Amino acid sequence: MIINPKNQTYQENYKLLIGSIVPRPIAFVSTISKNDVPNIAPFSFFNGVCSNPPTIAFAPVRRSTDAQPKDTLINIRDTKEFVINIPSEPLVERMVETAPEFAPDINEFDVAGLTQVSSQLITPPRLKEAKISFECTLNQIIEIGDGTAGSGFLVLGTIVLFHIDDDLYENGRISLEKLQPMGRLAGNYYSRVNDIFEVVRKIKPE
Ligand SMILES: Cc1cc2nc3c(=O)[nH]c(=O)nc-3n(C[C@H](O)[C@H](O)[C@H](O)COP(=O)(O)O)c2cc1C
Repeated sequence: MIINPKNQTYQENYKLLIGSIVPRPIAFVSTISKNDVPNIAPFSFFNGVCSNPPTIAFAPVRRSTDAQPKDTLINIRDTKEFVINIPSEPLVERMVETAPEFAPDINEFDVAGLTQVSSQLITPPRLKEAKISFECTLNQIIEIGDGTAGSGFLVLGTIVLFHIDDDLYENGRISLEKLQPMGRLAGNYYSRVNDIFEVVRKIKPE
């Protein structure tokens, strides 16, 4: 089957993206508004970019209801700072509770019974329950598309501080077993990382 995205709705194209790019890591992003209201929401269009400087990217798309930017994007545009919290499996229900379209004056930490703690180098709070959090400053926001629903933004951020639970940290590496990361699949489905295999890679050809 060959599909030209121009012949489909953005919702149909979205389904192909989220069914094909799997499993996706999840960033649980905390920000603060210019009126000092904290915000937290999950984003699975998320990945690392490079490590010098350590850089991440995630994509808050425009709201499907009114094509307006999401509160997370507005807050980052206003304050130039955010925290990427990595959610572990025991957090999944509370994470999903933060995802409806709450008004900008609603603090989703409170809605979902999550705990905010002060960051050290930036103003937005981090999530106490997360075993890993990255304090980030904004590198740049790239706008994608024509401003209608389904179009969005790519946010690039520089990690200025890593918070890693001592329990997971083993000689500079992260224990996967203790992190219990989740992958997002299509719809309401998630995956665990519990079927791992190794393939040794050579740096140079023989
Ligand atoms: C697991 C999960 C992953 C999500 N990933 C994204 C994403 O990558 N991009 C996006 O725009 N919305 C994503 N959403 C939806 C947002 O979390 C949702 O629109 C939220 O209300 C945004 O909050 P805000 O307006 O406070 O920024 C995701 C939701 C869930 C539950």
